[in-house]
This record gives sequence, C-alpha cells and structure tokens, in this order.
Amino acid sequence: MTVPTRRSRAQVTLARALSKFGFASRSKAAVLIREGHVRVNGRVVRDPDHWLDPRTDRIEVDGSRLLAEEFRYLAMHKPRGYVTTRADERGRETVYALLPPDMPWLFPVGRLDRETSGLLLFTNDVRWGDMISSPEHHVQKTYEVTVDRPVVERDLEVMRNGMTLDDGTELLPVEARRSSRDGCTVVLTLTEGKNRQVRRMMEHFGYEVVALVRTAIGTITLKGLPVGQVRPVAAEERRRIGDIRKKEKT
Ligand code: URA
Repeated sequence: MTVPTRRSRAQVTLARALSKFGFASRSKAAVLIREGHVRVNGRVVRDPDHWLDPRTDRIEVDGSRLLAEEFRYLAMHKPRGYVTTRADERGRETVYALLPPDMPWLFPVGRLDRETSGLLLFTNDVRWGDMISSPEHHVQKTYEVTVDRPVVERDLEVMRNGMTLDDGTELLPVEARRSSRDGCTVVLTLTEGKNRQVRRMMEHFGYEVVALVRTAIGTITLKGLPVGQVRPVAAEERRRIGDIRKKEKT
C-alpha cells in the first residue's frame, strides 16, 4: 500500500475537501470518489487520498463545481439556543439561519454547544480552518464561564497543571483566572477543543455552568459584534490570529 504524501502545506485529500465543504461525510465522499462521480481539474479521480489544493484545483461532483471561487471568512456572535450544524434533525434553529443569504458553502471552525454563545468563525478555506482547530497550532480559544458558586483557587490550579477527567480524557494545561468579584466567573484559555471541554471541566469539580461564552479565538475577539450578527474577518486578522502564542514562544 502506498502512503499518500502531502506535496505542500496548502493541500488536503479529496475526501477531506468534500467533507469539510459539507458535501458529504468523509466515508460517503470516499464512496462517491471511488464510484467515479468526482473530477479534479476535469479528470475523474477515484482515489479518496488524492492530494489537492482547494484554492487552485477545480473539484466537480457529477458535473457541478463544488467549491466557491473565492475564500470567505466570517465571524459570528452566536446566540444561545442555536445548534452548530447545517440541518438539525429535531428542527431546532441552526447557526446557518444567521448567515447572510448570498454566502457560498461555508463550514464552522469548531463548534459551540447549543447553550454556549460567543465567537464562531466560518470559512470555506479548509487549511485555515484546520490550522485554527488543530491542537498543534496552539491557537488559543478564550471562554468566560459563570458557575453557581465561587470557583476555588485549588481547582483553578488543577486546571492550570493539566487534568484528567473521570472518563480518562486527558486535558492540556489551561490559563485560568477568576474575573468577577463574586468569584463565580472564570476566564479559561485553551489550546485544544475537546467536546464540551469547558462544561466537563467545571462539572468535574461539581460546579453547575450558568453561562458560557467564547470571547476570543486567538487574536480575534467578539468586540463590537452584537449578538446574532456576522462580520467579515479581514486578511490582516486572519494572518495574525495565532500571534499571541507565537510571541510567547519566542
Ligand atoms: N466548551 C464547552 O463546554 N462548550 C462549548 O461550546 C465550547 C467549549
């Protein structure tokens, strides 16, 4: 068996490109590709591990161009009560209802729970999205979490040192500080995004989460973005999103 090798940092596999653009799950995409439904630059490609650059390669499924011509980058202030999915089988409001109507196919960079509000990024640039989500790039995600009683320093210290949840999930160290006078609100800065991580951390210590807001992803913040609104992310902001971490490392 040959192991596909990535030719440049801009590349992703064909199956991944299809799944990231929401066309199909990665396994369904692989079937479509093997069955010959997918062309890359006019040629049928039957290998799901075929590497390509979604910025420059033209992907078609049954003759329809899949990707938008241009990359788009949006920041949303997600309200509570919206699910981060394209279509909810239970008919609940989804974050897609808040996007402007003229958008190409976009995917959310990571997810926020239905009851979490705050910053959610959308793009059709797979590489940029992956860079933000992947733990190796250490792009920090900042959360403000309010719980039912003052958070004790000892618990914050455990979080700062890295902790293991009761189900064995190991978590990397986080930055953690109290941000309200009553001690019930805490700012946590994470460099990974495990499923429901903040809620599980707080519940581990017996706190009940009253509110959870993601206030920043790297250097991009919620500042000036009203709840339920969307704004474009400028090129400079995109380039600088990981700058906090880089500065620390040098
Ligand atoms: N952590 C959570 O628990 N929920 C979110 O939505 C995001 C991070």
